Amino acid sequence: EKSGYPHFMLKEIYEQPRAVMETLYGALNDQLIPEAVKLLIDAGKIYVTGAGTSFHAAEHFSITGTKLAGKPIISFISSEYDTYLPATSEGDVLIVVSQSGETMDSLKALRAFKRRGARIISVSNVIDSAIPRESHITLYTRAGPEIGVAATKTFTTQTTLLTYLAVRLGEAVGRLDVGEGKEILGNIGSAGSLVKEALESAEKLAKKLATAISRSSSAYYLSRGVGVPVAKEGALKIKEVAYVHAESYPAGESKHGPIALVENSFPVVFVIPNDSYLEALLLGNIEEMKARGAYVVGVGPEGSRTMELLNEFIPVPKAHWALTPVTHTVPLQLLAYYAAVEKGFDPDKPRNLAKTVTVE
Ligand code: M6R
Repeated sequence: EKSGYPHFMLKEIYEQPRAVMETLYGALNDQLIPEAVKLLIDAGKIYVTGAGTSFHAAEHFSITGTKLAGKPIISFISSEYDTYLPATSEGDVLIVVSQSGETMDSLKALRAFKRRGARIISVSNVIDSAIPRESHITLYTRAGPEIGVAATKTFTTQTTLLTYLAVRLGEAVGRLDVGEGKEILGNIGSAGSLVKEALESAEKLAKKLATAISRSSSAYYLSRGVGVPVAKEGALKIKEVAYVHAESYPAGESKHGPIALVENSFPVVFVIPNDSYLEALLLGNIEEMKARGAYVVGVGPEGSRTMELLNEFIPVPKAHWALTPVTHTVPLQLLAYYAAVEKGFDPDKPRNLAKTVTVE
């Protein structure tokens, strides 16, 4: 039931404030979180994997876990597991992120790592699906059923849960400053209102920008650090539902090739995390794109220094950088949704795609 929304995708985008809070309440009461933290502390190597959107959530955990807990966490796309297998042994941990819990690429990675003695933690939205059944520990997101083929609320719930896990890990290993830990936990506690604010702030502008972007055949989605998986998620969304070719890469790479493609009015969407170091670097990247006539759009914290350089700026609420997926994803989802609608496509049923990919 679409409850008055024209599409499931829009309904599910708007369900995010509740979905992230339910996921958080679940996590706060979940005795398996301390167990998962213990497995991670004792782990030899830590890997994290997934496909599509779930891979972007996996990359987010790799970044937050590595930075907050000082433990290197290796992320890879689940269909590429074979590369990492020879380096895996007893005592390693693999975290498998899968909304449906049925994605064959991710299930195969799980099985292969398990055979080599790795312990498996999964993050899933579907109770007792295949991946949870074969895991040692499963942490559940509580997004509720997601009908739209494009993953929306499952991404923000996965990243909320995984950020929480990264903080708990950082605290447990004594690497996370107490004040910073409190700040992130406080932000996670208000994740619902952060998403809500982002929705309110983005709705109008996203519609306007969708018109511009839906006329382009190609776009770049750029960021640095914690913003990179979010930029990749934005690019995947617009490809998937609006059939606009989009490429996402860490902004520092521009001068190593991709900027050659940029000419007048080429759209470049920047994800500007709430981190002054990353923001300063991105200022340079925005300038270099502008100098070539790009149409530069930014999603960033209110009052960002990048504002005056950008053609369009979508402000999102300020929060700790680790919350970037929670604060910055919503405008990109809306942009993709409205671009699809503008072009007359049904965002709930993109061509060639299935909600759950149970084949290799
Ligand atoms: O159910 P999963 O999270 O394992 O699915 C993984 C991908 O197939 C999925 O995220 C896909 O990329 C979405 N359609 C993206 O919107």
